Amino acid sequence: MQVAIIGTGYVGLTTGVCLAFIGHSVTCLDTDAAKIRALCSGTIPIYEPHLAELLEESRHNLRFTSSYAEAIPGADAVFIAVGTPPTPSGAPNLEYLSQAARSIGQHLNSNFTVVVNKSTVPIGSGNWVDSLIREACEQRSDAASVDFAVASNPEFLREGSALHDSLYPDRIVIGADEPRALELLYTLYRPILDQTFPAPTYLPRPEDFGAVPLLSTDLASAELIKYAANAFLALKISFINEIGLLAERVGANITEVARGIGLDSRIGARFLNAGLGWGGSCFGKDTAALIATAAEYGLHLPIVEAARTINSRQRDRVVEKLLNELKILKGRTIGLLGLAFKPNTDDLREAASIEIAQKLIDRGVRVKAHDPIAADRFRREHPHMPVQLCQHAAEVAEGCDALVLVTEWNEYRDLDWECIAKRMRHPFILDGRHALDKEKLTRAGMRYVALN
Ligand code: UGA
Repeated sequence: MQVAIIGTGYVGLTTGVCLAFIGHSVTCLDTDAAKIRALCSGTIPIYEPHLAELLEESRHNLRFTSSYAEAIPGADAVFIAVGTPPTPSGAPNLEYLSQAARSIGQHLNSNFTVVVNKSTVPIGSGNWVDSLIREACEQRSDAASVDFAVASNPEFLREGSALHDSLYPDRIVIGADEPRALELLYTLYRPILDQTFPAPTYLPRPEDFGAVPLLSTDLASAELIKYAANAFLALKISFINEIGLLAERVGANITEVARGIGLDSRIGARFLNAGLGWGGSCFGKDTAALIATAAEYGLHLPIVEAARTINSRQRDRVVEKLLNELKILKGRTIGLLGLAFKPNTDDLREAASIEIAQKLIDRGVRVKAHDPIAADRFRREHPHMPVQLCQHAAEVAEGCDALVLVTEWNEYRDLDWECIAKRMRHPFILDGRHALDKEKLTRAGMRYVALN
């Protein structure tokens, strides 16, 4: 099939590369010409494991352009995967979405095209995109021949494992009010639904992975599924963090508690890692948007609101713990291990590291930091933050009064902790992710405290 993808961020680029990999002819469009030039020359603008390899393998099915006239006419499916960044009110900014819809409307032709909302868009956006495309078509003399339908196909991929999540998803959700749209998307996704594609060696198919369930719904339900899924995951994390606080007071071990409840198959073990809480571009934005949508209908969502409150409280607790340990923060040196909002990405959006660094700087702390991937991006995106970036974790430790493990990069698990303890002024570590081995660190001479 001929596919166009509008927007080459995490979602757009991953979707484009995966659809090209399973055999479709894909044109990825971005209005950022510099990004397109970079992609044409093989440079990937984001850090995502194996994306470069899969792109290389699928290059014969991929084109990159900034021209709607090149991407849209004749496409069977057009995926809108543009950014919908949050506005101060919590509602997403839909400017890029509306520009994309209008431009699509200017270039569709008589070939039946499904326009798919892949970005996380507010509930009701399907109808809105439909009307914007229709308005743009009506400006044309050949408006009557244009044939399209709008569908919603929410994305459930996680940064850092985006390709795995796209090729081996738990489910595919398609919301469409027009049967032809559903049929077309069913055919498009068939190799993934039936798992008939040969798995790349670097992205092996999980053992016992069978056919992928397809859920077809109306437009609004598909849109709400996306928000409800992210809100539920966010509140699962906040729930374990809330119980973590109580566990600390009663002397219980939150990791054991999480294991104990997670083994109940009705609850499930994943997303129960207590610690600094969630960051990234999705949970914060989507929970805020869900609350904003509910407010438009005069509704409160107290559970979702509480999940957000608890998440921000976790960041304050870092300062509390450091105060407990060091008593005075002014004039101290504190090192952050990890800057990215989670491992295997260089994304810093709503990363705990930024908030923690700022809180410490405000209290007169000298902050040092290391991240194996996200340090350059940190410098570019936060040029005025007085954080000393170090090449190695051990260098961060030099002269520090405390370390905070912010991002659980694998390499931090096997650091030479004896050497680190010796280099620190006060060998204390606050493990913000329950990622390190307490016994091992204690043997190495570190004082270890985990953030519940
Ligand atoms: C999330 C969802 O997991 C995806 O399903 C969804 O498609 C995506 O948002 C989106 O809407 O685009 P993502 O934000 O990439 O994906 O990352 P997650 O793996 O969900 O992690 C989010 C945050 O939660 C990270 O900061 C992570 O450190 C934190 N987290 C995760 C915890 O604090 N505890 C956990 O147990 C799990």
